[in-house]
Amino acid sequence: MIYHFDQEIDRRGAHSAKWGVVKLDGRFVPLDEAPQFSNGPRLLPMWVADMDFTCPQPVIDALTARVQHGIFGYSWPGASYRQAVIDWMQRRHGWTVQSDWIVPTPGVVPALNMLVRTFVAPGQRVIVQPPVYYPFFAAVANNGAELAHNPLRYAGGRYGVDLAGLEALASQPDVTMLILSSPHNPVGRVWTPDELRRLGEICLAHGVLVVADEIHGDLIYPGHRFTPYATLGNEFAENAVICTAPSKTFNLAGLATSNIIIPNPELRLRFERTLNSNGLHGVNTFGMVALEAAYQEGEEWLAQVLDYVAGNFRFLRDYLAEHLPQIDVIEPEGTYLVWLDCRRLGLDKAALERLMLTEARVFLDEGYIFGAEGEGFERINIACPRSILAEALQRIKAAVDGLPGVS
Ligand SMILES: Cc1ncc(COP(=O)(O)O)c(C=O)c1O
Repeated sequence: MIYHFDQEIDRRGAHSAKWGVVKLDGRFVPLDEAPQFSNGPRLLPMWVADMDFTCPQPVIDALTARVQHGIFGYSWPGASYRQAVIDWMQRRHGWTVQSDWIVPTPGVVPALNMLVRTFVAPGQRVIVQPPVYYPFFAAVANNGAELAHNPLRYAGGRYGVDLAGLEALASQPDVTMLILSSPHNPVGRVWTPDELRRLGEICLAHGVLVVADEIHGDLIYPGHRFTPYATLGNEFAENAVICTAPSKTFNLAGLATSNIIIPNPELRLRFERTLNSNGLHGVNTFGMVALEAAYQEGEEWLAQVLDYVAGNFRFLRDYLAEHLPQIDVIEPEGTYLVWLDCRRLGLDKAALERLMLTEARVFLDEGYIFGAEGEGFERINIACPRSILAEALQRIKAAVDGLPGVS
C-alpha cells in the first residue's frame, strides 16, 4: 500500500497535545485560551515528538476490529504480545530477547521515573549527557536523586560523548546510574558500537547501571545503523535496562505502551516490585493491539515514513542553506527531530523564543530546555507534511528578515 504523507490532517479537536496547547512563560496553556493566537496565521506546532501522519493501515484495522469487540476489561500482555516484541527486535535489530525479559509499562517516561526510584538512593547521582531529552532531568529530580552532568562534546558540527568526563563522574562512589539517549534526542546521533562499548566499559568498571532509552531506535537515516545496547555482549546486557516502545516508530504515543527490557533477573525483579508498589501493572488494551499489528505488519509503512522524513530533512537543509544561512543544521543520523544551531542570529534565549513563537508563530522546543548547552539552539520536529514544514521555514525566514540589522 502507498501512503500519502503529503496530506494535511486536521488534528484540532482530537485531544492532540501538539496541536491543542502552547507554552507561554514556561507554562502549557490550551491554545483556545491564548488570545494572541486566536486570529492571524495558525500556530504551527513542531515541538513534541509525534508525527502528523496516520499510523499504518494494519494498526487502524486491528484497532477498529478490537473496538467492535466491545468489551474493554482488564488486559494481559500474553504470549502473542511478547512474541511480537521478540520478533521485531530480532528481525530489525538482530537482538535476541527472551520473553520474560520484557516488562510492559505505560510509557518510557514513567519507567524512567520508576527506574530512578528503584536503583538510585536519595542523594545519589545520575549521569545525563546534555543537551538531552529534558524528562531525564525530571525523572532524577522527582525521585530524590541528583544530576551529574556530562555534556556532549560538540566540534565540527558533530556531537560525541565526552569519555574522559564520563569516567571522571562514573568513578565517584555516589554516581550509580547513567541515562543514555540512544539514538540521542535532540542531537540525532546514532551511537556507533565502538562509542557504546567504550561508554559501557566505563560504566561496568565503576558499577554504574546503564539505562538506555532506545525509543528512537527504529528511526534511522540511510547510511547509519542502530546498535541496541544489549547486543554489545552479555556483560553489557546484564548491567543494563533498555527502554523500548513502538510509540515513536509508528506514531502511537497516545496509546501509552512501552516495553522495558531487562535481561538481568535481579534488576528485573527489583524494578517489577517498584511498578507493583506504585500500582503500575496494567497494560492498555489498545496499545497492545496496536503494538502487535505494528510490529507484525507495519514495516511497509515504516519504510515509506523514513523515506518521507529523509526527504523533509533534505528540504529543510536546502532551504536553510539558501535562505537562512545564519542557522546551522546538525545533520541527524536518527530521529525525526532536527537540532538547529541559531547562535549566529545573536539573540538571547528569550529573544530567540519570541522570534519563533510570537513573530513566526512556529512552536518549537527551545534548546535551553535540553540543558544550558542547548541555549541558542532550537529543536524542530519534521514528521509532518512538507507543506507545513515549508510554511514554517518561510515564516521563520520572514521573522529573521524582520530583525533589526538584517536585510
Ligand atoms: C528519548 C525519549 N524518551 C522517551 C520519550 C517519551 O516516551 P513515552 O511517551 O513512552 O513516555 C520521548 C518522547 O519524545 C523521547 O524522545
